[in-house]
Amino acid sequence: MPRSQVGRDTDRVDGRLKVTGAAEYSGDYRAADLAHAHLVTSTIARGTITSIDPAAALASPGVLRVYAAPESRLALYEVTGQAAGFTENYLPLKSDVVRFHGQAVAMVVAETPEQARDAAALVTVTYDAQPPRTSIADEPHVPAGPTISGAPSSLEILAPGVGSIDAALAASDVVVEAEFHQNVQHHVGMEPHAILAVWDGDQVTIHAGAQIPGPYALAMAQRLGILPQSVRLITRYVGGGFGARVVLWSDTPLAAAAARELGRPVRLVLTREQMFTLTGHRSHLTQTVRLGASRQGVLNAVSHRSVAERPTTIAFTMTPAHSTSDALYRTPNLHVDAQVAVLDIPGSRAMRGPNEAPGAFALETAMDELAVATGVDPVTLRLRNQATAHPATGLPWSSKHLDECYRLGAERFGWAGRSATPRTRVDGQWLYGTGMATAIYPAHRRAGVVARVRLLDDDTAVVSTATSDLGTGSATMVAISGADALGIPVQRVTPEIGDTLLPPGAPAVGSSGTHATVPMVVDAARNVIAELKRLAVTADRSPWHGAAVEDLRYERGILHGLGHSLTFGRLLTTIGSPGIYKESAPGGQPVPGYVHHSFGAHFCEVRVNRFTGETRVTRFTTVADVGRVINAKAARSQLVGGVIFGIGHALLEENHLELDTGRLASSTLADYLVPVNADVPDIDVVMLDRPDPVLTGPLGDGSEDVGTGSLGARGLGEIGTVGSAAAIGNAVYNATGIRVRDVPITLDKLIDHL
Ligand code: MOS
Repeated sequence: MPRSQVGRDTDRVDGRLKVTGAAEYSGDYRAADLAHAHLVTSTIARGTITSIDPAAALASPGVLRVYAAPESRLALYEVTGQAAGFTENYLPLKSDVVRFHGQAVAMVVAETPEQARDAAALVTVTYDAQPPRTSIADEPHVPAGPTISGAPSSLEILAPGVGSIDAALAASDVVVEAEFHQNVQHHVGMEPHAILAVWDGDQVTIHAGAQIPGPYALAMAQRLGILPQSVRLITRYVGGGFGARVVLWSDTPLAAAAARELGRPVRLVLTREQMFTLTGHRSHLTQTVRLGASRQGVLNAVSHRSVAERPTTIAFTMTPAHSTSDALYRTPNLHVDAQVAVLDIPGSRAMRGPNEAPGAFALETAMDELAVATGVDPVTLRLRNQATAHPATGLPWSSKHLDECYRLGAERFGWAGRSATPRTRVDGQWLYGTGMATAIYPAHRRAGVVARVRLLDDDTAVVSTATSDLGTGSATMVAISGADALGIPVQRVTPEIGDTLLPPGAPAVGSSGTHATVPMVVDAARNVIAELKRLAVTADRSPWHGAAVEDLRYERGILHGLGHSLTFGRLLTTIGSPGIYKESAPGGQPVPGYVHHSFGAHFCEVRVNRFTGETRVTRFTTVADVGRVINAKAARSQLVGGVIFGIGHALLEENHLELDTGRLASSTLADYLVPVNADVPDIDVVMLDRPDPVLTGPLGDGSEDVGTGSLGARGLGEIGTVGSAAAIGNAVYNATGIRVRDVPITLDKLIDHL
């Protein structure tokens, strides 16, 4: 009898395909008569194109077309309605306006990628440039508008009799006020954006990495002026999303429109340099946190303001205080506010805990400053201010075990006995210090998710849903939850994802794929088992023909009853059916009366070189409260990866926007630094594995028919990256006595003070 694989270590179902190179990513697909595209990008940030001369490129070997702004022959159309939120607000190559440095201004299509690339270098463009708006400090600040979750960008809750947040702060015994800055950060997925577009009549098949296949294809259909059902998007293997593949950027429509115009399949692969301007980034950001507290560190007021950029091409709202400062600590007076400044900068978008990671860096650094100011231990301070109801709404959480994260983390890490006084642990050239911080991330509900379960006559099952696997392991999650629901081994379940021909799947966004998908798989499994029983009593050749459904019991892949036992495959074979399938009801509606978050606590040790200012992370412990864990191995990888993002955020990652040109200064992985193995210590990750009793989806009645073990999961994709940068910065302070509020904490910010 197979044990359920839920919560155990399961190898990736596609692991072997990936490590042997057999898995086909978007750019690996082939097509007969394939043509290759290469983009030419703008070298000004704001202004107009005055001329584009394609002659030299057209005369270059193998060149088929040069599509140049403003009057390219490409047919592209506005995207309206809901789909507009998934794309940009301008038509590429259809106007002479330049909106950011690195925008596509022409596209060359040739017989080979090399011919296209070389010819692209021969396209000459002249501009009428205007000075770009590049400074969020200098441009006017306006309210950011509603957050992703629809909450207002500004919120103020005051205790009775308190006139303003400033008054609440002024009345507090201890006040901490701190301003934080961070530069542009990039997703830098390993796989460059690559598109293959193949037309068949008025139907187009697109291979591209997409985090939200359904809306992506819908936006694509509108861009191309065709019906939604005329677009099939295949996104089976994806080399990293991190937010960069949420939006339909200019690349995919350009490739598809060129393929239509040319009458040949077209492949477009962005260069690494183009990835830095054409596929989004995290906005640079200024944040101000003010905390008012008693001498014992009990919060009386929390104020968190942010100013982010608003590119002209995309209306993404950066709201770092939302779901960090409005959710984390109990306080009678609360104020969060998000402002933006319009800039001529490439489109920014969600990136790796988009709001929560920078928001928690600011809040959790300020909390450490409050710990220093009050002399209260940082863990004690947080336990003292734990919220039992969501501060912004007053609602209870569906499940919250944050206190256990603190206690277990402190114990595993060896927090007790830490010296709160900086520079007390010295080993030769190295100053040692420890720090901690809290993690919080919303468990977004996703409506309209459908799974399909198919039982086959060879005793295997196929579970299908159009979600995508960005490298996170979602295909394996689908297989595990299907196996659990059917009571059969994972090896007998084939997951089918990443194709818009499948039932609408969960978006691989906002750490929501697993908890949006699993209950739907369970529901579909239940439906198909009911169908199996119905067939068993109605099919002529079935041993149960004429019996009642109530006489049958399904257990672990086998139907029992009235002295017979048959596997589902055997029954299907007996009655002459190759397979049966059922879908789930569309699920994922919010559960009223609750808020849902995942939580965690990070503990970190760093050493800082006294002479060079070099900071190394030496130890890291993260304890996460993420509900039911589906695949412990993949979950651990997600959390470790999140902490590594935190190392990047704290110590390495930034891009400078040149103020006079509007150019992002870094465009290679030699100068945009991300952590490499040598930067990453062994990261100790623990998951509490406490199933969320509310997030159980439509089922969870413990019936004999389906496994109930796969319910109660919450998201964990981004929780590792929220707060981890603050834990590192707090450890740097403990090591050196230097508080750096401007990440990344590079040596130049430390060395003069050491
Ligand atoms: Mo993510 S930044 O939720 O794609």
